[in-house]
Amino acid sequence: MEVTRERAWETLTRYTKSEALLRHALAVEASVGSYAQRSGEDEELWRATALLHDFDYEIHPTLDQHPQDGAAILREEGWPEEVVEAVLSHAEHLEMPRDTPLKRTLFACDELSGFVHACGLVRPTGVDGLEPKSVKKKLKQPSFAAGVHRDEVYAGAELLGLELDEHIRNVIAALQPIAPELGLRTAADAPAA
Ligand SMILES: [Fe+2]
Ligand SMILES: [Fe+2]
Repeated sequence: MEVTRERAWETLTRYTKSEALLRHALAVEASVGSYAQRSGEDEELWRATALLHDFDYEIHPTLDQHPQDGAAILREEGWPEEVVEAVLSHAEHLEMPRDTPLKRTLFACDELSGFVHACGLVRPTGVDGLEPKSVKKKLKQPSFAAGVHRDEVYAGAELLGLELDEHIRNVIAALQPIAPELGLRTAADAPAA
């Protein structure tokens, strides 16, 4: 099958109805896509993989099923092994090697995209003007976006060989253009001073 972002969106939305999950998929897609572009990788394939990484979470909300039972569905649909393997590798409990740039990037963008998104949701200007410094401060507050695994955020930056600040900055920049789709306000929404 030809791997396209559109086909991935079709699969994702067939299994996922929750707005929060769709927004998570879009946020991770934007981050992973920006890294693909930056490094001259196959952006369409990377975006498709990012969109699909949690496609089965709504029907398989526990780790004895997600994402391994989802992978079986993807294989049935004819998604290439490169995509399926990358989807599987984002899950810590499967302990799969992250031996390709796509696997490393997906892992590195998953938790951090969710976290930066959460930071933006509580700001009047969304992710506009958001600085790595304040993201890092929030990372140290366990009660903020408590579901985000901090250790995976730190491990992700290391896996990419990036300083955490740089990785955070890249993710912020990736989310900015799709702020409306993510339910984020922008600087344009803020009341004039
Ligand atoms: Fe997941
Ligand atoms: Fe995810």
